[in-house]
Amino acid sequence: LDNGLAKTPPMGWMSWAQFYCEIDCLHHPYSCISEDLYMEMATRLVEDGYKDVGYNSIHIDDCWLEMNRSADGKLVADRVRFQSGILALSNYMHERGLKLGLYEDYGTKTCAGYPGSYGYMEMDANTFAEWGVDYFKFDGCNMDAEKIPQGYKEMSAWINKTGHSMVYSCEWPLYLLVNNKTVDYAEVSNYCNLWRNYYDVSASWNSIQSIINFFDLNQDQLIPVTGPGRWNDPDMIVVGQNSITPDQSRTQMSIWSIWSAPLIMSNDLRLIAPVYKEILQNRRVIAIDQDPLGKMGRLVVNTTNVAVYVKPVTPTDENSSQSSFAVVIFNRHFKSSAKVTVRLNEIGLINSAGYFVQDLWNEEKRGIMLPDDQYIADVPPTGVNMFKATLTQADF
Ligand code: DGJ
Repeated sequence: LDNGLAKTPPMGWMSWAQFYCEIDCLHHPYSCISEDLYMEMATRLVEDGYKDVGYNSIHIDDCWLEMNRSADGKLVADRVRFQSGILALSNYMHERGLKLGLYEDYGTKTCAGYPGSYGYMEMDANTFAEWGVDYFKFDGCNMDAEKIPQGYKEMSAWINKTGHSMVYSCEWPLYLLVNNKTVDYAEVSNYCNLWRNYYDVSASWNSIQSIINFFDLNQDQLIPVTGPGRWNDPDMIVVGQNSITPDQSRTQMSIWSIWSAPLIMSNDLRLIAPVYKEILQNRRVIAIDQDPLGKMGRLVVNTTNVAVYVKPVTPTDENSSQSSFAVVIFNRHFKSSAKVTVRLNEIGLINSAGYFVQDLWNEEKRGIMLPDDQYIADVPPTGVNMFKATLTQADF
């Protein structure tokens, strides 16, 4: 969507895949969906270095609403759990240099059963604008499959009409998939800044691997529609939850970055082990995700156990129309490591003056490599090796 927003993939923190719809604040005061939770996460984002590396928004998901609209039809945040209201929360975020994301659903109810926007889209768009919401996630539960494209397009127009800048995050393709319908991605990308393609992520390796499989299989449809302001959304980063190993965490960060996917964490920032924090804050990998070219990388080698992804990144050379590249070598095998040898020109790295090659996770510099040279990596099970090949020759 060309609204001037989300020129690079959004980065932040979202509650769903960690806290879901926990609303019992009496028994779970530290993990219930409440303004306190979002304010605490904002503090961690700022104080623990996440904001410095680019994570700059806090996203409310489902279960923030009262069960009924006000007498004049307006949405009301839960009076106990969000006693200060959403405007106060967005002010709180803005004072700290953060943005606020909010969630609704275009059906009659949200997935968790709270009032949906059906019949109230204009009013709700205006309410979110009044509240200073910066990013809007629009879910698609409880609505006829036939109305999906229309509903998402209408809301896009209402949001635009408010005149207030809101990144628009859709689940349009996912709900078409759920209903066995085909997706016109070019159309989706004209109305949404990002869109969920596939089922919800959960904090398990199976879930991450199934998302990767879906994207691999459908990459020819997804790559051409990706660019600044228009991103595929494979769902949240669950790094930091203990069910995902450090190797698997590096895999999720690397592949999401190779895709130019949003990096929206869902974890408990108060309880993150240092190893995960370091993975989440790797500036070299984040720079690949946020690269201004905004390309989605491509799977170029695919054997039973090994996948190699290549993404064109800056710096580029206008004269030769060559670019630099980020490369991820992924070992799907569950138990054995893989010794992988890749000749650069076999994966499209053909600049005759070569590339300066640097491993992004262990910082090992491999020096200048020519197209005929071989990059060799020992890749742990369910893990990755990731490197950047920077164009030489030009004076970068
Ligand atoms: C389905 C979405 O795909 C999830 O990301 C989350 O927003 C839930 N609904 C909330 O009910």
